[in-house]
Amino acid sequence: MAQLLITGGAGFIGSHTCLALLKEGHNLFALDNYCNSSPRSLERVSVLAGIDGRDRIKVVKGDIRNKDVLRKVFGGQDQPIDAVVHFAGLKAVGESFLYPLSYWDVNVNGTLCLLEVMKTYGCRTIVFSSSATVYGFPQKIPTSETSNVQPINPYGSTKAAVEQLLAHLADSEPGWRIACLRYFNPVGAHPSGSIGEAPIGIPNNLFPFVSQVAVGIRKELEIFGADWPTPDGTPVRDYIHVMDLAEGHCAALQALLREPPQLITTNLGSGQGYSVLQIVKSFEEATGRHIPYKITPRRQGDAAFSIADPTFAKNRLGWATKRTLLDMCRDSWVWQQLNPFGYGDQKDDDSN
Ligand code: NAD
Ligand code: UFG
Repeated sequence: MAQLLITGGAGFIGSHTCLALLKEGHNLFALDNYCNSSPRSLERVSVLAGIDGRDRIKVVKGDIRNKDVLRKVFGGQDQPIDAVVHFAGLKAVGESFLYPLSYWDVNVNGTLCLLEVMKTYGCRTIVFSSSATVYGFPQKIPTSETSNVQPINPYGSTKAAVEQLLAHLADSEPGWRIACLRYFNPVGAHPSGSIGEAPIGIPNNLFPFVSQVAVGIRKELEIFGADWPTPDGTPVRDYIHVMDLAEGHCAALQALLREPPQLITTNLGSGQGYSVLQIVKSFEEATGRHIPYKITPRRQGDAAFSIADPTFAKNRLGWATKRTLLDMCRDSWVWQQLNPFGYGDQKDDDSN
């Protein structure tokens, strides 16, 4: 059992991972400024954690760029913080072209602030949310960790920069235990439908958009191009259930805490790719709802294929995905039906 700081703990992946870590018996401090989330997600995590878990999570409102807040968390406990699971960050590829300063400030400067305070308090264990987007247009499909890191958007550049910073830190002094987890496409929700992905405004990502079409909030899906060099002309992605992803964090943390100090960089994906049209069909099968769509031009910055080679994660962490595409569609749908407007305190701006 460890004492953990979870930055961005109220977000989509953070909330599911908090629950998985509570189930493993850890004590958590979840820090979030709620710029892209709701405090209600963590209230629901406490409920899901049950009588054994709900008292082991403390929620702190704050920004990772505010070192005073961080110092209070690290310095204010009877027991030291053993490790950090670092989710806090901005994550929309399109937005990162418009606001590169914000992306570098939150994702890179925010991580710097966190690492400086960690170092001051002697905490040298961190699990970092990286992304498959660091591969840019991958040279090889499926893509292994040895592939070139060549981001093609500002968001990806910030993730690659933090990976590099963490590598320099690991080289600079002994004792750092670091895991960079390159997620492929996280989707789905906790099977209870209590916590899930609650995008603010019009969803950028395929799964929340399709869910909102199915529930009637949006009229139709726009499929960004059907002329890609893929079997049915629509892009292929490696979708990973968020509960599998949460368990991947538990596995990475266990490895860091149990083994000698080291830097682990690994993909977290299934190794299985599905096209946009296959997702639409599976969602229709899982929900019994028709998903109207139209084909529109390609979206800037998309790639035809993104599929993980999951071999390293399996060998190194003993972790592999367990949930199927049907699970992902069904759980997204349960969450969407029970929470058509997310956590209910986020403003929706428009419908298409
Ligand atoms: P999310 O937006 O739901 O969660 C991020 C959380 O961080 C939010 O709760 C947000 O309020 C918080 N946050 C943002 N800036 C902060 C700051 N300055 N201080 C404190 N809290 C702050 O996103 P998510 O999908 O859960 O992603 C979590 C992490 O995983 C992010 O770093 C993201 O870049 C990375 N990632 C996500 C995906 C994906 O497709 N969802 C894929 C690869 C990597
Ligand atoms: N798509 C549509 N219509 C939509 C939304 C998406 O056709 O309304 C298509 C996209 O063109 C793409 C596929 O659905 O081909 C998946 O798109 P997403 O936006 O859901 O996901 P991406 O693969 O573009 O990117 C996601 C995250 C990134 C992350 C990356 C790898 O948004 O932050 O996965 O982890 F880096």
